[in-house]
Amino acid sequence: MLVLFVALVAMGWGYTQVFTGRAAFLHLGAFTATIMSANVFFIIIPNQRKVVADLVGGRPPDPALGKQAKQRSLHNNYLTLPVLFLMLSNHYPLAFGTAYNWIIAALVFLIGVLIRHYFNSMHAGKGKPHWTFAAATVLFIVIVWLSTVPRTPTGESAVSAGDQKFVAAENFTAVRDTVLGRCSMCHAAEPAWEGIRRAPKDVRLDTDAHIAAHAREIYLQAGRSHAMPPGNVTQIAPEERALIVAWFEGVR
Ligand code: HEC
Repeated sequence: MLVLFVALVAMGWGYTQVFTGRAAFLHLGAFTATIMSANVFFIIIPNQRKVVADLVGGRPPDPALGKQAKQRSLHNNYLTLPVLFLMLSNHYPLAFGTAYNWIIAALVFLIGVLIRHYFNSMHAGKGKPHWTFAAATVLFIVIVWLSTVPRTPTGESAVSAGDQKFVAAENFTAVRDTVLGRCSMCHAAEPAWEGIRRAPKDVRLDTDAHIAAHAREIYLQAGRSHAMPPGNVTQIAPEERALIVAWFEGVR
């Protein structure tokens, strides 16, 4: 179990070195599910076949085969919840969109084990280990905390000195909400809009720094003109356009 956990965490870390967080979580889910399938096809089923063959042939079956199958089946039992979480994780940027996403994945594995341990014990008539609730809650709080720790600002995500004024404007928070809500599904590092694979024209509008750096374009494309969003697919309201105009004209 320990070896398996270390392997999963190492793979999780490795994936985040090569892929974006969203893709890393999906790959980690696929990796975990592959291990689970392999447990069934290479250990659990073949061992059972051997045991059945022995019983049919009147030979006493090797108890080690059953033990090994039970161990792998327990591994799979512990992995079911984390694998579900990882399969659905691409809907939850708060889980994968942080520098600590691989640690979050590691903690999700532990929470999965705790939850299963509770039910396994209960179903085996060994009582209800309520301490698992407390442990899972603590791990969950750590995850919430990790998911909101800001990334250390890099050159790219820091607001440049010349753009500070756009971020400092008192209506900036409202402008940012508008832009995140109406534009960033296409204009992001990993666009969520079907069919858009990278930020159109490399215009990213997903962080304060990017929004400030494109203040003038936002003003022109969505404030003064109605060029963006295309065909107003994201239904930006006239008041939101007016807000963008007021923000840019108030600052420049
Ligand atoms: C449905 C996806 C989508 C949404 C939502 C969207 N855009 Fe765009 N945006 C595009 C595409 C596609 C282009 C490239 C258009 C082209 O090349 O003709 C583009 C181009 C731009 C450009 C560059 C224009 C240029 O000619 O250099 C800016 C600036 C821009 N968008 C701002 C915004 C703003 C601001 C919002 C929100 C109010 C927004 N976009 C919402 C898809 C979108």
